[in-house]
Formats: sequence, C-alpha cells, structure tokens
Amino acid sequence: MALLLFVPFLLQRAPLACAAVPVEVTVVVDSKGGGNFTSVQQAIDFIPDDNQRWTKIHITAGVYT
Ligand SMILES: *[C@@H]1O[C@H](CO)[C@@H](O)[C@H](O)[C@H]1NC(C)=O
Repeated sequence: MALLLFVPFLLQRAPLACAAVPVEVTVVVDSKGGGNFTSVQQAIDFIPDDNQRWTKIHITAGVYT
C-alpha cells in the first residue's frame, strides 16, 4: 500500500489554526533519515498506549509504503 503524504505543505499553514493546542511532544518522520523516524509506523509505535500528552507527528513530503 502506498501512502502519498503532502503534510508539510499543510503544516506550514497550521500554526494559526493550532495555536491553542499545547503540543508537548513533536516527532519528525523523514523517509530520508533526517527526522526522528523513517516510517510513519515507527512514530505511531513511539507513542504510548496511555499517552496523555498532545503529540505532533510531522511527516515530511515523500512516498511511504
Ligand atoms: C527528535 O529529534 C530531535 C533532533 O534530534 C530531538 O531534539 C528530539 O528530542 C527528538 N524527539 C524525540 C521525541 O525523541
């Protein structure tokens, strides 16, 4: 399954809409290795099941399979 994501394009405009949300944890997914994880699944798995903190997963543009 191929998942095309163009999230950075949206996130660059998101701060105004999300200003009231206190993001406490940010993880970056970059298929080229420039972030915390190279796959979306790794980022999802990183967040505990009983997570109580607002967490932003920033996915850089790319093709994730
Ligand atoms: C993600 O990587 C950045 C840069 O290395 C680091 O500062 C940050 O603590 C990392 N985030 C997590 C949740 O590990």
